[in-house]
Amino acid sequence: MRRILLICSIFVTVLMIMQGARSDPQAEELLRQCSNSNTTNDLSIFLSNFNKTFSDMRKQLSNGHFATAYYTDVFGLVQCRNYLSIADCVACFDAGLAQIRRDCPQADGAHLIYQGCFLRYEARNFYKQISFEDSSGVCINNRTASEPAAFKPAVEELLTDLIAATPKIKSFYAASKRQVFDGGPTAIATVYVVAQCVQNISQSDCDTCLSRAYINVQTCPPQAGGSSVDAGCFLRYSDTAFFTDNDVTDITQYVEGGSSTKKTPLIAGLIGGLCLVLLMSVLLLWYRLLRKSKKAERGDISGVTKLQGAVMYNYKDLKSATNNFSLEYKVGEGGFGDVYKGIIANGNIVAVKKLAVVTSKEKTDFESEVRLISNVHHRNILRLLGCSGKGPVQLLVYEFMENGSLDTFLYGDKRGTLSWKQRMDIILGIARGLAYLHEQFHVCIIHRDMKSSNILLDDDLQPKIADFGLARLLPKDQSHLTTRFAGTLGYTAPEYAIHGHLSEKVDTYGFGIVVLEIISGRRCSDMINEHLTESLLQYTWKLYDNGKHFELMDETLDPTEYNVDNAKKIIEIALKCTQSPVSSRPAMSEVVVQLVNDGSVEQRPPNKPKFVQMTKNIDDDSSTSTAPSISNATATLTKFTGR
Ligand SMILES: *[C@@H]1O[C@H](CO)[C@@H](O)[C@H](O)[C@H]1NC(C)=O
Repeated sequence: MRRILLICSIFVTVLMIMQGARSDPQAEELLRQCSNSNTTNDLSIFLSNFNKTFSDMRKQLSNGHFATAYYTDVFGLVQCRNYLSIADCVACFDAGLAQIRRDCPQADGAHLIYQGCFLRYEARNFYKQISFEDSSGVCINNRTASEPAAFKPAVEELLTDLIAATPKIKSFYAASKRQVFDGGPTAIATVYVVAQCVQNISQSDCDTCLSRAYINVQTCPPQAGGSSVDAGCFLRYSDTAFFTDNDVTDITQYVEGGSSTKKTPLIAGLIGGLCLVLLMSVLLLWYRLLRKSKKAERGDISGVTKLQGAVMYNYKDLKSATNNFSLEYKVGEGGFGDVYKGIIANGNIVAVKKLAVVTSKEKTDFESEVRLISNVHHRNILRLLGCSGKGPVQLLVYEFMENGSLDTFLYGDKRGTLSWKQRMDIILGIARGLAYLHEQFHVCIIHRDMKSSNILLDDDLQPKIADFGLARLLPKDQSHLTTRFAGTLGYTAPEYAIHGHLSEKVDTYGFGIVVLEIISGRRCSDMINEHLTESLLQYTWKLYDNGKHFELMDETLDPTEYNVDNAKKIIEIALKCTQSPVSSRPAMSEVVVQLVNDGSVEQRPPNKPKFVQMTKNIDDDSSTSTAPSISNATATLTKFTGR
């Protein structure tokens, strides 16, 4: 037993030494940069996230040369050159990780490029970035290749072919070698080259990145070797083999012009090429015809199956993208379930909503809703990318908005960061999104739960309406009576909260309240005056009636940014959206027109509604006679007239 153990341990040690020796040159450093700023997070939390991100990526390297992972504020990426074995790749990764830990102990980001691998982490999503500020070429300066006169053009020729081919290859990677001739019959040298793009960029970005990399490295020959390092790609040449013949990629099929062939095989190549071209065009023609007929077939049934655009995700993939729905990946909770952030295989970040649906009726609803909503394309509506209905829970996959929701900008931790202009853009965007849902989509979709926390902001602070978990669908020209209260206190139109009368004007009401929040920076449900228990809407009316509407303006706004008359018009629009009877509220398309015209379209002043005391027990919806405080308002509110 002991002897076996001894032999085993010797074997392991020898293996480790061999591995160390083999991967050593791969850890030759080309570029290293720690971010100038340290993490803003608590250091121990940051380190814990850092460790999680990197150990997650290390695990992924056991089945590929590329990995991304992130925990909260640590977005990570690692890539090995494909000629490395898994063991060498992991060894290169470990060396790089140790160096980053040593050299950039508290930095909120760093990148390190070795000959064999590339490691990077940042506090933000950088996955589509293709260039660094400090990207450059690194030449092997201490040695010149033999026969420099022939070597230089040979390198240039091969690199040109290589960078043309690599973006067209699915793995975004190619290794090639070519002999260098000096007029004579025997080769005087060999050039070895490798090109690689990170996996989450587009083909054209890969192309752009490699073209730049080529310029960076172009000045290196006739020096014996050189590498070009950048965020999105890697390029290397050498007169010494750094990969084996087995690793060579056949790039000839991707290279036009045939500069790759030498004199003798030229004619053969030419004939072969011609045949190939002929064959290809025949195939292409055939393929086109085939596709045309397929398309026609599909066209016939497209009126029924509107599932184009919706991607069916694999439950397992989403589970691992969100690290098994772990707390660290959780970004919010909605009425219908929790929302997680996840990185899917192509490096895109998505929001995954886990729905707590149980009954088969709800499952059917879910599927029809996904079909419908995945066809909603509007710049102000959060895109539903797809779903997974096969696993134990239903999952919806949406695009991810780094900036989070509007409420945090109004009265949350980002309070005071929105300018007047940005606020006006947000208001207009929401109005456009709602107008689309109500009037331009082929069925009328009522959101039912308009509120600031359901408005997400993209990188340019443009709004995206989110959370259709509660949306129920209405056929056009038909209003519904529903018994199910699905709104949020303070945003919900009284006729819906009290009587369950649902129309798209319920959203118009919610929109009006959101506008008041955007202008005032106050939460609609906060009681402005404790004794009067005034809601934001009541408070606004009081100010408006007394001509003091300017007191409503958010004090964090710079008063020179806005015009008081203009602000008054926006307030009037908000008040009209919330007025009663329901039929007097404008359609969202009218709101858009008024907003675009700066409110200068002829406007009648809004009608003040009778107010309902919105107390907490409003959600038992049979409350018409039970709550004494609303009885005054009932007469007005019941005059609901539909569309
Ligand atoms: C992170 O990993 C390093 C190295 O394994 C370890 O020394 C450190 O204690 C870890 N830190 C946290 C917070 O997990």
